[in-house]
Amino acid sequence: MSIQVIKCKDYEEMSRTAAAIVAEIVKQRPDAVLGLATGSTPVGTYRELIRMYEAGELSFSRVTTVNLDEYYPISPDNDQSYRYFMNHNLFDHVDLDKAHTYVPDGNAADPEEACRRYEETLAAVGQADVQLLGIGQNGHIGFNEPADSLAVETHVTGLTESTIRANARFFASEAEVPTRALTMGIGSILRAKKILILANGAAKREAVAAMLAGGLTTACPASFLNLHPDVTLICDGAALGE
Ligand code: PGA
Repeated sequence: MSIQVIKCKDYEEMSRTAAAIVAEIVKQRPDAVLGLATGSTPVGTYRELIRMYEAGELSFSRVTTVNLDEYYPISPDNDQSYRYFMNHNLFDHVDLDKAHTYVPDGNAADPEEACRRYEETLAAVGQADVQLLGIGQNGHIGFNEPADSLAVETHVTGLTESTIRANARFFASEAEVPTRALTMGIGSILRAKKILILANGAAKREAVAAMLAGGLTTACPASFLNLHPDVTLICDGAALGE
């Protein structure tokens, strides 16, 4: 049950490959639950899904989406929030019912309570048919950062220096990157029926290698995907160290 690898020639092919798998799931099951991710990596996948929708090949009208994570604290209309990112990169361009799109509440007064409510939402919408993931340079999935121990369920977490630095490119300065986030736990992620993890570029090489080594280590949270029976890595050669 090792992680399957689909090697693509470039970002575009990676994006088309991931979108084709997601589209097939939605065609088979129009009321599918899609687990979605933010970051630069899945943007091309969303672009391709929008293209299919515009071409009349695909409808999201009965789909439900659950996102991995959100900064905390952040307002949903802050253009750096993951809610904003999803609206801008996918939701506003397809026929999804926004009431059926879920992102952890970065605006909640009580973040712990927001996490508990998010787990209830995940339980209510049911197992995701597919979960899309990116991988951090440090091996994180969602905002499950390398640490001595990893959380199973949705929780509040501090961001590591490495992640704050990597995400600073989206903010006016590093000081503006929120230092906390709400994120699905490793267990919440592993509940999906199928997992697609995307990686492109040499910056992901070490994290990908640590994941593909096949063992479990909290130093590389993505390594816990080795516990899941249906994980596919869709990547370019650079992410494989070629
Ligand atoms: P990226 O982020 O897609 O912007 O590289 C990936 C991640 O941190 O999960």
